[in-house]
Amino acid sequence: MATDDATRWDERYADHPLADPAPPDALAAAGLTDVTTGMTTALDVACGAGSQSTWAALRGLDVTAIDVSPEAVRLTERAADAHGVEGLVHATVVDLDAGLSAALGAEPSGELQRFDLIVCQRFRDPRLYADFVGALSVGGVGVVTVLSESGAENPGPFHAPAGELRASFARSDLAVLFHDEGDGNESIVVRRLR
Ligand SMILES: C[S@@+](CC[C@H](N)C(=O)[O-])C[C@H]1O[C@@H](n2cnc3c(N)ncnc32)[C@H](O)[C@@H]1O
Repeated sequence: MATDDATRWDERYADHPLADPAPPDALAAAGLTDVTTGMTTALDVACGAGSQSTWAALRGLDVTAIDVSPEAVRLTERAADAHGVEGLVHATVVDLDAGLSAALGAEPSGELQRFDLIVCQRFRDPRLYADFVGALSVGGVGVVTVLSESGAENPGPFHAPAGELRASFARSDLAVLFHDEGDGNESIVVRRLR
């Protein structure tokens, strides 16, 4: 399946213009773009053309960017280069169907690598949600946006059931900083408390 994903997305990215840096939509909607202050590391899951990776790097974060599409990874590298932050963006072809720890490689302790900011925008795999929390530093912020049946006119197989993010991230070790759903999308911003 992921080989199909890579081919399909490579085709979509073939004529894609260089991405402009942009914050994750949910951080912008929440007025929380300054949340990166004091952070040092970020993970951009399914980074696409690299808008969010480049934005985070321009704010001084060391960014791990992962995507199944080699074209997406190339675009992310080129966007970082164009904005002078190529040294801060480490983009890799990774198939998330194998899980986050396989994608990132475990630390010598066997634990997941930790990040201060994790962004996963418009890529949905509910099997990854628990690992997103596991890969957040204490005090770190996770930002997830998915297509949702909530308010969607013609929901398809890629749409999450309404309320999926709210239910999945309702945990005692997380504070919800922002949640929104409707118009075919659901977004959540959470901070790891412990
Ligand atoms: C709608 S794009 C979102 C890109 C970016 N996050 C954004 O918001 O602009 C979805 C991305 O998921 C990536 N993707 C799809 N299946 C994947 C998989 N199995 N592993 C890693 N990335 C995948 C695609 O290559 C594509 O770049």
